[in-house]
Amino acid sequence: MNLYKSLQLVVGLSLVLGSITVEAEMTSTTALEKSSELIELGRKLFNDPRLSGNQKIFCAQCHNLKLGGADPRGISPTVDGKPLRRNAPTVYNAVFNFRQTWDGHARTLKEQAAGVITNPLEMGGEWDSITQRLSDDPEMRSSFQKLFKTGISKEGITTAIAAFEETLVALDSPYDRYIAGDLGVLDQTELNGLELFHSLGCSSCHNGAHFGGNQFQHIAIFYQLGGDQDTTKVGTAGQFDISQMEPHKAHVLALSVGDQGRFEVTGEERDRLVFKVPSLRNVELTAPYFHNGSVTELETAVTEMAAHQLGVLLSPVQAAALVAFLKTLTSTSLKIEPLEGSP
Ligand code: HEC
Ligand code: HEC
Repeated sequence: MNLYKSLQLVVGLSLVLGSITVEAEMTSTTALEKSSELIELGRKLFNDPRLSGNQKIFCAQCHNLKLGGADPRGISPTVDGKPLRRNAPTVYNAVFNFRQTWDGHARTLKEQAAGVITNPLEMGGEWDSITQRLSDDPEMRSSFQKLFKTGISKEGITTAIAAFEETLVALDSPYDRYIAGDLGVLDQTELNGLELFHSLGCSSCHNGAHFGGNQFQHIAIFYQLGGDQDTTKVGTAGQFDISQMEPHKAHVLALSVGDQGRFEVTGEERDRLVFKVPSLRNVELTAPYFHNGSVTELETAVTEMAAHQLGVLLSPVQAAALVAFLKTLTSTSLKIEPLEGSP
């Protein structure tokens, strides 16, 4: 190849590459604009009662973004005012869950949104009437046209809601700063709690970057509940006087009433009373606790967990230390300036 030809090649190549770069920049700006519009649409839909059957219920009612993303009322009322069966988990950091909902019946945020909108016991909406109602709104029509190049659809609605939920990330807790090397952030009680969390075995279930949200577990490890059985596993207990476990057994029994957990999804016996291990990030803000919202105090939740998941009776000092540690998992952003998007 002579010099001229090689030069030509280089010039040609850089022209091609140059135009690719320009084009890429243009697409990414457009994509960015598009994604912020998509998120904004999702935020609006998260607050839009037109998605429900009676046009009164919307996501943010049960997932109050100013109050930890869950429902401080406890068990949320449903379309007809009757209580729901389960306690609303927080939507903050839900994007990191390996499955959505307590029994994992939804795999993705999109699937979860589609389910809750039409579930007659939750929002009780119907896609035909929802898309009709939203299409009567010129602003909604133009948002969908711009973003999806189609009319208003279930696909577009759930995509936008999921995109908004993906922004509901609330990390940046004192614990995160501690892990990043700012060792003075945690005081001695919090450090004792952290130590207990690992040494007792809480972290065998609540593990990973978000202290849970990545596996299913049985809720009565130290009891055999369900089916015809209802016995305490005395054999494995060892560490405690079985009579002291009675009150905790009552709590486990209460947890098992009217809810079989993952068994309801799979129909498999081994999934009876199996639930998703919830993430413990921001748990300080999401009372009441457990899938049935049966416990209002974090201290009680921790004490129950130790008893029926680990067979350990906590002393009040230990329980207080664990609670102090769990509070270090609260995102500073949620404490100072809650995200927009609540009623
Ligand atoms: C009437 C109250 C209520 C409304 C309205 C509601 N939710 Fe929920 N949400 C719940 C309850 C209760 C659960 C737990 C359901 C279960 O486990 O079966 C839940 C679970 C979730 C989860 C799973 C979180 C996790 O950690 O597993 C997400 C995400 C979520 N809702 C988002 C939404 C969105 C988006 C909307 C609106 C389209 C919405 N919710 C409307 C009560 C509500
Ligand atoms: C064997 C697994 C396992 C162990 C060990 C375990 N947990 Fe849990 N934890 C779960 C499951 C499953 C749930 C959800 C139970 C339910 O709602 O019925 C849960 C729920 C919780 C909740 C309530 C969270 C909420 O949002 O409602 C707290 C708090 C908690 N655990 C703390 C702890 C602490 C502290 C320890 C150690 C003393 C611990 N857990 C040990 C599996 C476990």
